[in-house]
Amino acid sequence: MNYFEELLAKQMPTEEERKKLAEISSAIQFKINALCKSENINASCIEVGSVSKNTNLKSSDIDMFITFDKTYPVDFIEKKGLEIGHSVLENGTEKYAEHPYVSGYVSGIKVDIVPAFRINAGERIVSTVDRTPLHTVYVNSNTDEKMIHDIRLLKVFLKRINVYGSEIAKSGFSGYLCELLIIHFKSFEEFIKYMASLRGKLIIPEGSDRKFTEPVIIIDPVDPSRNAGAAVSEENLSRLKLASKIYMTKRFDILEHAGENKPGRGTAIRIFTLRKPDIIDDIIYPQAIRLKNRLWDILEDNGFIPIASEISVNDNIEILIECKLEELPGVEIHKGPPVESGEAIKFIDVWNGNPRLMRGPYILNNRVYVDIKAKNRNMEEIIREELKNSDIGKNLNGYKDEIKIITETENMGFDVENRFYSRYLF
Ligand code: UTP
Ligand code: MN
Repeated sequence: MNYFEELLAKQMPTEEERKKLAEISSAIQFKINALCKSENINASCIEVGSVSKNTNLKSSDIDMFITFDKTYPVDFIEKKGLEIGHSVLENGTEKYAEHPYVSGYVSGIKVDIVPAFRINAGERIVSTVDRTPLHTVYVNSNTDEKMIHDIRLLKVFLKRINVYGSEIAKSGFSGYLCELLIIHFKSFEEFIKYMASLRGKLIIPEGSDRKFTEPVIIIDPVDPSRNAGAAVSEENLSRLKLASKIYMTKRFDILEHAGENKPGRGTAIRIFTLRKPDIIDDIIYPQAIRLKNRLWDILEDNGFIPIASEISVNDNIEILIECKLEELPGVEIHKGPPVESGEAIKFIDVWNGNPRLMRGPYILNNRVYVDIKAKNRNMEEIIREELKNSDIGKNLNGYKDEIKIITETENMGFDVENRFYSRYLF
């Protein structure tokens, strides 16, 4: 058994777990269907997601949909969906995707109960989640037992190389994408062989890059207007390409090297942290990236020479930036006009007798220069000052004053308690 088959063996749901999942899902289905019937609502409960396709790994969630007749207004299905969700999941909390939905736990298993419209194959969808039940039908009618095994193997493979999951902070491959890839390539081996020699984008079917621009373009067979691979970043596509080469050459030893991450770089590493507002990641994450870019620009414009950055979004937003300089030099080189220009004398007059003047005026090549005393050399003060006038995003602006700047990073290096991963190979 190869390395990944061994991992899969450990990740396979046990017979006991399968039974438990089946029992929970049919109990929920029964309850919801009975509820809809008693209230005369034209809706029914179906199971979707990996469990409904037998492609789940150990401890996966259960995805239940309540599919309402298309003639109901959106706010009706949203309201009813939440009501039913709460009545089935006692400690459920509300989450938000296309519609609000309820997420909770039944006997330790995470269950999502999501409202959608009932759509027949080929019909126009109303909201994007409406196609999810069609995914289950498509996958179940296009896979056999070997392919189901290979889908699970692909999920294990992608998890191991840290590219599984389409949520924005991960930007990797969704479970559905794994299913589509195995259906297209027929087997795990064929897919990996293809990836090991692929140059450029992953495009299925051929020619689909006329309609989409992302690094991974995989047309959703149940809705050709959608790129099911839109979430995958170029970096994660690269990870998959390299991992596929490793697989083909059986150099599994390379996977064991997480990558060096030694402290003592002689640079200035700072971690900027603020509490994450209670807003979904799809909204907060892009703002966190914007804040990171803003901090980078401030450091760059002021001469700290930033050279690397990392981001981590959990309970807190944490942004790590590494600069070449800890503190600015005491002097700023100030370039004046060419000696030939009408401004040359004016420039000399402006600086003559100025208390900030440290050297000059002098000439370098064809221009006048002065060296002046730096106004502020402290990174933290400069950042705080500049942030006052920066827009860092609708939901983050109110938290500006709470930003903490951690400087005791000398012994931390990049891998601050495992929160910053992205410079690892996998
Ligand atoms: P899940 O995220 O639960 O994925 O979405 P999954 O296929 O069940 O995989 P695991 O095993 O839990 O990781 C449930 C369903 O929602 C649709 C897919 O049909 C998926 O099967 N979905 C989800 C998408 O179409 N796109 C997404 O980005 C996420
Ligand atoms: Mn799932």
